[in-house]
Amino acid sequence: MTTHDGMYIGGQWRPAASAGTIAVVNPADERIIARVPAGTAEDVDAAVRAARAALPGWAATGPAARAALIAAVRDELRSHAAEIAETVTAELGAPPALASAVHAGLPVAVAGSYAELAASHSFEETIGNSAVLLEPVGVVGAITPWNYPLHQIVAKVAPALAAGCTVVLKPAEDTPLTARLFARLVHRAGVPAGVFNLVTGTGPEAGAALAAHEDVDLVSFTGSTAVGRRIGAIAGAAVKRVALELGGKSASVVLPGADLAGAVRATVANVMINSGQTCSAWTRLLVHRDRYEEAVALAAEAAAEYPPGARIGPLVSERQLRRVRGYIEQGVAEGARLVAGGPESPLERGFYVSPTVFADVTPGMTIAQEEIFGPVVTLLRYEDEEDALRIANGTVYGLGGAVWAGDEAAAVAFARRMETGQVHINGGRFNPLAPFGGYKQSGVGRELGPHGLAEYLQTKSLQL
Ligand code: NAI
Ligand code: MG
Repeated sequence: MTTHDGMYIGGQWRPAASAGTIAVVNPADERIIARVPAGTAEDVDAAVRAARAALPGWAATGPAARAALIAAVRDELRSHAAEIAETVTAELGAPPALASAVHAGLPVAVAGSYAELAASHSFEETIGNSAVLLEPVGVVGAITPWNYPLHQIVAKVAPALAAGCTVVLKPAEDTPLTARLFARLVHRAGVPAGVFNLVTGTGPEAGAALAAHEDVDLVSFTGSTAVGRRIGAIAGAAVKRVALELGGKSASVVLPGADLAGAVRATVANVMINSGQTCSAWTRLLVHRDRYEEAVALAAEAAAEYPPGARIGPLVSERQLRRVRGYIEQGVAEGARLVAGGPESPLERGFYVSPTVFADVTPGMTIAQEEIFGPVVTLLRYEDEEDALRIANGTVYGLGGAVWAGDEAAAVAFARRMETGQVHINGGRFNPLAPFGGYKQSGVGRELGPHGLAEYLQTKSLQL
């Protein structure tokens, strides 16, 4: 077990202001693997000051020079991919293949996209007799979750740096080791002191202090809707910008005429990846009543292909395990039919849940409305397309989704009527440049690509 005592502030590792620590647990064997400092408001304040002091210099650095430094960060991420994957496996529990392909691989692509965008984006436009300047918003407070620990960090830090902002990051308490590794790599890449700062700590203490800090210009938060709502209220009261990337309960809608087997397999795979801990996961599978029982059998079969401890890792923590089990028990209690998995532990040790499939789920059930954040698929029956649309749109969320149909035009027509930020048409692949974000209570703002960059810019017009 390693005890770390530093925070990365102003370009160096400094001892934390107080002696409190957070234990980091490996969820596969339940052992404590490290301790990191529990930062306080004092640490947050030091980090915000460092970010503020670095802001004028960084904002004045030309886009080409910023692009070169972001490219250097990308190169560090790429050359340390093995260490990143091992760290994510140790603190999140992601199976090694997933850790290297997604947890280590995706951030390289996202950082690379912002190296290119920083160089190519037009930070000035002309409207009539006005020169419109796109300027950095200022100091960014980034609060990130544990589910994709490095991706969630890079999806905020890379566009912020590309825009000319400086950053204070408060990562999730469950996965601080990946964040510490990221800080080391930013340092190695030669990013100037104070441009990026890291404070580890709990949400209620360090996170709340960062969200409330009067010298933070924009708070970018990813996590639960409950905390997002509070951060939005604090930011609103202080009249500062806020970006919220929150929960989801996304629908995968199989229209008549679609390849049912392909749609069901892809939907189950989409939920099982990362043990169901994906905000945009297609956790509600909507199938026409004529083919419903066929779909139920296919889903149960597909779930059996994800043995816990092999293709599917544990949940991140005992708290999440209790939460997900509670939802499975509630599904049974509300009358849904369990066709795969269940609340029992599949393994003796570790925070594992079996891939679980519920049939006979009706739209009003808790498991059809609330984000479970575990490997749990719910199958809902619909009567016709209008019914399917009503069910798909019938939650407070609107983050992701999928539509499957015999022809693309029919799927696109349905997707246009969905209240959600992203829809995959007949298995269209993930695009790391496409805007990602929520309708309704799934959030405010967009991440990734040029839309993600725009979040970190503010406009000034000069009338000539
Ligand atoms: P959370 O929302 O508590 O944690 C996310 C981040 O917010 C962490 O860095 C945490 O330290 C911080 N935080 C917590 N309370 C805060 C506060 N008062 N002020 C400022 N920052 C604060 O999420 P948690 O408890 O880890 O997971 C609970 C549920 O949230 C999950 O079951 C899932 O439904 C959802 N969730 C959604 C995510 C997404 O990607 N949209 C990611 C993680 C969780
Ligand atoms: Mg852990």
